[in-house]
This record gives sequence, structure tokens and C-alpha cells, in this order.
Amino acid sequence: MWSNHVPETYQNYINGRWIEPKSEVWLERENPATGETICSFPDSGPNDVAAAVEAAAKAYRTWRFVPAPRRAEILFRAAEIMAARKEQLSRDVTIEMGKVLKEARGDVQEGVDMTYYVAGEGRRMWGQTTPSELPNKFNMTVRQPHGVIAAITPWNFPVAIPCWKLMPALVTGNTAVFKPSPFSPLSAVNVVRILEEAGLPPGVVNLVFGGDQTGAAIVEEPRVAMVSFTGSLEVGREIAAYCGRYNKRLHLEMGGKNAIIVLDDADLDLAIEGAIWSAFGTSGQRCTAASRMIVHEGVASTFTDQLAGRARALRLGNGLEATTDVGPVVNWPALDKIERYMEIGRDEGAAVACGGARASGDGLDKGYFFQPTVFTDVRPQMRIAQEEIFGPVTDVIKCSDLEKAVEINNGVPYGLSSSVYTRDISKAFKAMERMNSGIVYINAGTIGAEVHLPFGGTRGTGNGHREAGQAALDSYSEWKTVYIDYSGRLQKAQIDRPEDQG
Ligand code: UN1
Repeated sequence: MWSNHVPETYQNYINGRWIEPKSEVWLERENPATGETICSFPDSGPNDVAAAVEAAAKAYRTWRFVPAPRRAEILFRAAEIMAARKEQLSRDVTIEMGKVLKEARGDVQEGVDMTYYVAGEGRRMWGQTTPSELPNKFNMTVRQPHGVIAAITPWNFPVAIPCWKLMPALVTGNTAVFKPSPFSPLSAVNVVRILEEAGLPPGVVNLVFGGDQTGAAIVEEPRVAMVSFTGSLEVGREIAAYCGRYNKRLHLEMGGKNAIIVLDDADLDLAIEGAIWSAFGTSGQRCTAASRMIVHEGVASTFTDQLAGRARALRLGNGLEATTDVGPVVNWPALDKIERYMEIGRDEGAAVACGGARASGDGLDKGYFFQPTVFTDVRPQMRIAQEEIFGPVTDVIKCSDLEKAVEINNGVPYGLSSSVYTRDISKAFKAMERMNSGIVYINAGTIGAEVHLPFGGTRGTGNGHREAGQAALDSYSEWKTVYIDYSGRLQKAQIDRPEDQG
């Protein structure tokens, strides 16, 4: 089994070749469930970044003129290979970042879905045609790529999120420098190998491993025209400041403090199912995780008791084992951060209904396990109800009615995903209209976005752009407006009007 996994050494992938880093510095990744080293990979320096950008810039000159349907055929083949390799890819996800195998399969499936979806775009990528105000003149819009894009991705969806970024970037004619999180190197290698096998020409996607410094060097490379980043608010804001200064195109996705509103007419069993899945799936390490439950005071104590009871019964363990419900968190700093929030919450006056500490014993000692935790007596302005903890921790906040619940829902710096459980259609629509977030669920939890709809959030979550769906094409291309005058004479828009003649 994986306990005997021989650590491999991975390389950067630049201009179609797997090569050693010029930096000669290496990082290691451990399995967060067992502490075993699973692989080493480069900590790339500025020279590695420059080589990757150079390769991408060169490849762009030809890739952008490959007809989009041909580009898409390569992506279609990549989707086929990814689907065929789903099990191996899923196991790699689990061993490198810890989520349970069932969820890892969902992560890979999301990558497959996105790749197929985007491959279909190769034969669509529609623009507009519209009448001209002048005779013998034709107007249309076509999409044009940005050039070299940087895809800087997190570890929590190590297959899906790289596919969300790379595939639409490629189909629209960009080339890419891909820097994955240092906590999910295996999936990055898997995705790039698949693209290579599918026939992607050298230089079109370049993989550069490294940490924040490497990411910064990529963002600051003058030939990088666009950055797509998923990660923390702090890093995202720094990237935004840099891109703003130099007019680089930018797509940002920076997390959430998502809430499930449970009204007093809700199907409570259904709401509990949704709450457990949304709060503790992926050990709470989703941007879309529900870290707040805003519950009507009439049902709050029943809801809290049931939620805590179910959370207590969740089995922690290695995600490869079929009996495991919740895997470890990603690393030591994450565990430490979650633990600090326990103190913060208690100091603020919140009570712990279940969990509240690291988990140990039963084979958990070598991994980064934290007990699924429910805070109660939480007030909306507490730090635990405002800041993203990114772990298996959720709060119960009481509310008196829908209006108050929506106000609490909207009273955080983020706006990714919101949910409401109610049987009242009017309340469902009112909530849908008033919740300030990019995604809204009715009678479902806050997680489970599908690839053919826009994904992203309002306020601190993003910068107005979306990924996935048609919206992704808008992030990875710009409009070119084309006027074709076949009148054979000089025609003047706005000037040549019948009433102004003579
Ligand atoms: C993320 O956590 O950044 O809706 C992505 C969901 C998944 C994607 C989450 N489909 O939870």
C-alpha cells in the first residue's frame, strides 16, 4: 500500500521537457494523514520562471493561430485520458492533500467535466454580429487571447482548479505558466503529463514548482499578460495591487465565510445533511465550505444538538480508508491556525458544542487531524464568524427572522456561496434576491458547484471575474470589435445621416 510509497523526485516542465531547476533547491511534500514523505520537487527561482515564460511566449506565436477546434481536440483527448486514469489521480489527490477518496474522485471528475466542457467551446466561442448603422458595412466581435497567462492554484482542489484555469486559457489561444501549490505537487504533474500525452505542443503549458516567491516572480514577469489566482485574501490583494499598477489582466478567487440559513419552517433533517456535508466535507477546506449556520431561534437548539451529534460521530482517518468520513487538514500551519481559532472563539465567549481540539490516538498521531467542531453562542461580529478558518469548524448563530438572517449572511468581508433552507417559496426567492454572494443554493448546502455555470464571489472573494461556465471565456480573452466596410467609399459613423446631408 501507500505506506511503502517510494518518494519520487519531480521536475519542472518547460518547453516540453521535464528539467531540473536552475535554482537547485528542492521542496518535499508529506502525506498529511501519515507524515510520510511522498515526493520532492523544485523550489524554482527567477531563472526557472524566466525560462518558463520565455517558452510560453514563444509557443504563443504559433498556438494562438491553431484553429480553436484543433486546440479543443487536444483538450478532448486530455479529458479522455483523465477519465481513464480517474482512480490513480484520485488516490494521488488523497495522499498529497488528505481529502477522502470519494471526494478526491469528485475533484478529478470536476477536472474531467471542465475539460470536456471547454473542449466543446472550441467549436462555439461565439461572438456577436450586429447590423451596422451604415449601408454595406458589417460588424462583429471576435475573442482574442491575452498571451501568456499565469495559473496559480491552491492545494484543496488540486485537479479541478488547474483544469478550471488551464483549459479555458488554452482553448481561447493563450499559453500558460502553471504554478501549483507546494502542497499538491502530484496532481500538478498528473495534469501536465496528461496534456503532454494528449499532444499539447511544447511550451504551451509550462509547470514551475515553488512557493510564494516563485509565484511573485511569475506575476512580476513583464511578459505575463494575465494572472489567475485562487488562494488567500492577503496574497490575492498583493497580486491585485501589482497587476493594477501594470495593467495586467487578473482573475481572483479568494475564499469565503459562507453561511447556511435555516428558517423555522425548514426540513430540519435535510438541513442537517446539507450542513454536515458543507461544513466538514474536505475537512472544511473548501472556499465554499459552510462555516456559519444562521438558524432561526425557534429551531436553533434542536438543530445544534443534531448537528453536534452528527459531527461527533464522523470518523476521522486516512482518506484512503473506506470507513473514513473526514481526512486530515493539509499541514501543520493549518492545524496550528485552527487551534488558535479555538482560543479566539472561547475568549470571545463562544461555547464549543463538539470538537474543539486536535484528534489523536487510533493511528491519527502522525497526521494533521482536527475534530469536527461546532461553536455555539456565536455573535455575528466575533472573529470566528468573520474570518476564514479553513478547517472543520462551523458556528451556529441565532436569528429572529429572514431579514436578520440575510443581514448576518451579508455582514462578512466575503461573498462566495450562501444557502437557505425553507419550505416557503416566497422566503426562498427573497433570500435568493438579497443574499450578497456569487452563488446561492436553495434547500442545499453551500458546496457542489457545477462546471458549466459561473463560479466566483462578490466583495472580498474576488474581483468581479468568474471562472467556469461561459464566464471563463471572458476571463481568458478580450473582445475585438471588427468593422468591415464594403461600400468602396469613405463612410462616417454618426455623421452620414440622411437628415444631415447637404
Ligand atoms: C474551492 O473550494 O475553491 O462547489 C472550489 C464546490 C466545488 C468547488 C470548490 N465544486 O465546493
